[in-house]
Amino acid sequence: MAGDAQETAPRTGPGHVAIIMDGNGRWAQMRGRPRLFGHHAGARRVREIVEACPDLGVRYLTIFAFSTENWRRTQTEVAGLMTLFRRYIQREAQALFKAGVRVRFIGDRIRLDDKLVSLMDDLEMLTSGNDACHLTIAINYGGRDEVTRAAKRLAYEIEMGRLSHKDVDAETLARFLDTHVLPDPDLVIRTSGEARISNFLLWQSAYAEYEFVDTLWPDFTRAEFAKVLAGYGARDRRFGAVRA
Ligand code: IPE
Ligand code: IPE
Ligand code: MG
Repeated sequence: MAGDAQETAPRTGPGHVAIIMDGNGRWAQMRGRPRLFGHHAGARRVREIVEACPDLGVRYLTIFAFSTENWRRTQTEVAGLMTLFRRYIQREAQALFKAGVRVRFIGDRIRLDDKLVSLMDDLEMLTSGNDACHLTIAINYGGRDEVTRAAKRLAYEIEMGRLSHKDVDAETLARFLDTHVLPDPDLVIRTSGEARISNFLLWQSAYAEYEFVDTLWPDFTRAEFAKVLAGYGARDRRFGAVRA
């Protein structure tokens, strides 16, 4: 499906976009509905944004679905979200596979229930041969948690004598991160007007561009996504250097 002229991605568009999908709860509350109603509306929006990626030149999309801190919410909301994740995977698996999307999950699976983990494994396996677009879904993900788990595994390799402390540099550490096969994000978008990172991709976003939009996630359309991407093209990323 070809996008219209307004949606054409800039040539220098971001290859990897990460999104903090925030504002589902407020969207529901504004309508006098329970928070889970907003999460369901948010999940429907994910499909639209994923489908837009190939047309907009986005090869990697990473979305924040549940943070290591989100367990602090009520049992009802947490359980509802976990059910939603299971249903989302069951419902979307075939469409994602057929669209050539390779799905990966990041985050610590240890706290997730077995049924969800096996659905995640199956979807990763099913789509492992795809390459058109790479969708990474962060569930029970926290940047600090990820770096801590990586450091722990690195320390174990040293303890086992398979690695020397002299070999530890940023590249070595990054190999132990959940994202080790992914490029760093070029652009991080957060919806709902909050200008904070909330523990998302801390290491990987060292030089990412950020865009904070007021729209609540269930209202974030493909057209707005295209607009944000177009704005990215005008930015001057210097990575600490001085432009020649
Ligand atoms: C983001 O929406 C989705 C998750 C964190 C799971 P919120 O649920 O945080 O929505 P607000 O921020 O309360 O509006
Ligand atoms: C960040 O949103 C996590 C996800 C979008 C999954 P939160 O709503 O949990 O973040 P805070 O609590 O406002 O920082
Ligand atoms: Mg929130």
